[in-house]
Amino acid sequence: MQEITTLLRQEPLTENALLRLLEIRDEKDLELLFDTADRLTRRIFGRGVYLRGIIEISNICRRNCDYCGIRAATSGLIRYRMQPEAILQTVKTIRKAGIRTVVLQSGEDPWYTPELIENLIRAIKTKHRMAITLSLGEYPFAVYRRWREAGADRYLLKFESSDRDLYQKLHPDCDFDERWRCLRDIRRAGYQLGSGFMTGLPGQSTEMLVRDLLALAKLEPDMAGIGPFIPHPDTPLCNAAAGNPLQTLKVLALARLILKNTHLPTTTALETLEHDSRIRGLHAGANVIMPNFTPENFKRLYTIYPHKAGSDSSAESAMKTIKAQIRAAGKYIRKGYGHSLKEPAAKS
Ligand code: 5AD
Repeated sequence: MQEITTLLRQEPLTENALLRLLEIRDEKDLELLFDTADRLTRRIFGRGVYLRGIIEISNICRRNCDYCGIRAATSGLIRYRMQPEAILQTVKTIRKAGIRTVVLQSGEDPWYTPELIENLIRAIKTKHRMAITLSLGEYPFAVYRRWREAGADRYLLKFESSDRDLYQKLHPDCDFDERWRCLRDIRRAGYQLGSGFMTGLPGQSTEMLVRDLLALAKLEPDMAGIGPFIPHPDTPLCNAAAGNPLQTLKVLALARLILKNTHLPTTTALETLEHDSRIRGLHAGANVIMPNFTPENFKRLYTIYPHKAGSDSSAESAMKTIKAQIRAAGKYIRKGYGHSLKEPAAKS
């Protein structure tokens, strides 16, 4: 206990300290870690939790990431693509639920041309005055800049693993350097940057997780999502073990201690592995939840991993669950856009 208290006081947390803290097992020590992260979260954000409404606009993807259930090679999955009109309708539903951020997430689907997305961004901005987060994958700088100029506020692109070899192994048709080129370009284009990684990936060591945390510290993103890996039966990783909820919570708490005022969601993947772990996430450093507003007939098809929490219920009932969980955590829904608390990214 004494040792953990001393470790938690280290500023900045060193690689060794992070490793030790990730290996905590003792109940009292765990409580101390989560409580320290929660106290810092409350000091920065109060008890307010920001909601971001997510729309999974297409499950069509040109990539073949080993862990992902909507990878191009998955056959037998019904593919869908939402038309701009349907997307705008769903944005309206999110706005009506009192949420001021919409996240447009998709497989890497070239049908959505830069021009189409630009028009969609402009339509959302004029009609609904929402903050817009894009999560559409890897694009050239010129495309990121074009969408930023059209009004998109934030871009979410996880680095998934900061370990070059592990990244390359899991993403056979992606390139590690290209991923980091994109992260730099997103920032250079003037977005609030969201990134993050998965815990419990097959082949991932605790040392690698610590380096993932240090990579986040260096990147200083405006938001960081950390979720456990969940094996999907129709992927090459079907037989791998799932990530561990408790370990994910520890990583989340450490991310809070390192990143300070970065927005940290408690992820749907975590809730999927363990019901009500969202409440635990809100006690371990998280200050954001991303409710899913994808229309029901499509939602069940956006199977990046199986049995996704909320994918078998309506957005309305999922929102009810989330509201109850926020209340159970002793927190409340914070209104407003929930923009980054960090200095605006330098435009160059
Ligand atoms: N298990 C857990 N998370 C996954 N993601 C994709 N596939 C899986 C999986 N099988 C996460 C990735 C991606 C985000 C949209 O979902 O981190 O960035």
